[in-house]
Amino acid sequence: MSYRITNLRDYANEYHKSVTSPEKFWSEIAEQFDWKKKWDQVLNWDFETPQVNWFENAELNLTENIFERLLPTHKNKTAIIWEPNDPEADSIKLTYGELFKAICKFANAMKSQGVKKGDRVIIYMPMVPEAAIAMLACARIGAVHSVVFAGFSASALADRINDCEAKMVLTSDGNFRGNKNIPVKAVVDEALNHSDFVENVIVLKRTGEKVKMTPGRDLWWEEVLEGQSEQHEAEVMNAEDLLFILYTSGSTGKPKGVVHTTAGYMVFTYYSFLNVFQYDADDVYWCSADIGWITGHSYIVYGPLLAGATTLMFEGVPTYPHAGRFWEIVEKYKVNQFYTAPTAIRALQVYGTEPVEKFDLSSLKVIGSVGEPINEEAWHWYHEHVGKGNCPLVDTWWQTETGGIMISPLAGITPNKPAHASLPLPGVQPVIVDAEGNELTGNNVEGNLCIKYPWPSMIRTTYGDHQRCKDTYFSSYKGMYFTGDGVKRDHDGYLRILGRVDDVINVSGHRMGTAEVENAIDEHPDVVESAVVGYPHEIKGQGIYAFAICDASDKSDQILEDEIKQLVRKIIGPIAKPEHVQIVSGLPKTRSGKIMRRILRKVASRDLSNLGDISTLLNSEVVEDIIKGANLD
Ligand code: WT7
Repeated sequence: MSYRITNLRDYANEYHKSVTSPEKFWSEIAEQFDWKKKWDQVLNWDFETPQVNWFENAELNLTENIFERLLPTHKNKTAIIWEPNDPEADSIKLTYGELFKAICKFANAMKSQGVKKGDRVIIYMPMVPEAAIAMLACARIGAVHSVVFAGFSASALADRINDCEAKMVLTSDGNFRGNKNIPVKAVVDEALNHSDFVENVIVLKRTGEKVKMTPGRDLWWEEVLEGQSEQHEAEVMNAEDLLFILYTSGSTGKPKGVVHTTAGYMVFTYYSFLNVFQYDADDVYWCSADIGWITGHSYIVYGPLLAGATTLMFEGVPTYPHAGRFWEIVEKYKVNQFYTAPTAIRALQVYGTEPVEKFDLSSLKVIGSVGEPINEEAWHWYHEHVGKGNCPLVDTWWQTETGGIMISPLAGITPNKPAHASLPLPGVQPVIVDAEGNELTGNNVEGNLCIKYPWPSMIRTTYGDHQRCKDTYFSSYKGMYFTGDGVKRDHDGYLRILGRVDDVINVSGHRMGTAEVENAIDEHPDVVESAVVGYPHEIKGQGIYAFAICDASDKSDQILEDEIKQLVRKIIGPIAKPEHVQIVSGLPKTRSGKIMRRILRKVASRDLSNLGDISTLLNSEVVEDIIKGANLD
């Protein structure tokens, strides 16, 4: 654990080193891993292209760095603790030794079905250990996994399968979530009606739900495992070979496949995990995210396991069967580090402090937050009632594209400041720029957040469309990666993230592109045009508010509103369903025909005090109509 920073001065030294000699800094950390072949060059980069190669020409397998590297010391240590949805059901503990066997077996099983290095495999599964096993088995054989959150609809799943031309889908019969039993395989079946690439579907039995198995295509998990060896020789991977693709929304319509590669991601997730959470050898660490999101990839599976940690996976939801479920789990396993999203905190805040006080949380040493700006009220509630005022709270800012935590306090080292992500991790060089791209130095400045130097776990491309990667992230400001977030550096030099500055809405920590939701709404036969904006929502952070023109429809507004909500739910999934739909006669437009979202945002936020100058609009008369019809309850 020599790369764990232990005090503030240490942090300052390491940060300085990481900026003045980044290659030396990262190669020293990389040295402790097992490489089949060392790199020729630590970093080769050009943000214009963009092209970023870390540990160029090195060879390795990431899973060897979890298992072969750690087994001599960690064979009997618990790697994964799995807590089921139902507190009465049996939990599972897998040691590093057992997990390794399970991964090798499943790696052999996938290979026997013809999956080869470079093939894409979709993982559409509940939060069960097999999902993590599947990810690692892919990494073992060099297949590229793409985990799709099991709450996404069939058409969202089909889009992702088709975009990466997946050869295999790993799934389950159903998914226990709270008091629901959600069909999973049935969604895959529907998605595959719109896809030609998938050769096999492997189905895990979880709920016992009856499912349709298509002969020749669908196989049971236990069936493919039969007779497979528990040994597997890891595939040799290049440092820059694809590790996984994870789809995420942006300002344009179609979700993009963010590509992460092997060595840089390994080094950075390991390093950031250890330092942000200050993990000690016998700690039990729990991140409550879903593996369908980047947080689950980097900080349930890869980072913790590379650091030899015990990582807890929870199948259920925070409020089932009661609002103290999270705290019950903390008590049960004596969790030391707990990492969740502000939306979960706000949702639990509603139930008061009684459910928190019922359980013994004295094991907690560190609490963490991720996914959206944490408001001060939630920060204080979390700090006081969960952390009992004496756990450092790490507010971690990062993105699917950054692969790992970029700006965050280091637990117990960086002084806490509510609602501030605070300082960059070593190796991360954030800059604040104004609209023209000038760097704003000094304190008390506000602008757009960019990163001006490569870090090992950064996005390499958007799958199948490199130009899109360039346009989205590397074209707004010359020579920099643009995050899409606004940021403020306060008088102490601490960074506070202000939220998205683009057309992205953050609903419960999940990123939704306005264009993506609008495209779904426009599928409704009566919708002529639509516009979607975000507005402040007490629990979700932001809610989705949709405006739609349905001129010639003979349906009532109420019916249209319901149909539109259901349609979005069906096309994208429940998380994208608008909170409000308002049928309008027109949308405010500039003379060049651009929708004035600023005005719609004001209406949706019930903030009509200062609409700004609307006289330049093409159709200023619609504004009054929109205000009158607004759903402001
Ligand atoms: C966007 C990235 C990183 C994993 C979960 C979300 C927002 C994330 C914070 C934070 C303020 C945050 C940003 C970012 N965000 N963490 N601690 N404080 N904002 O991943 O879906 O890729 O979304 O989430 O706006 O750009 P994602």
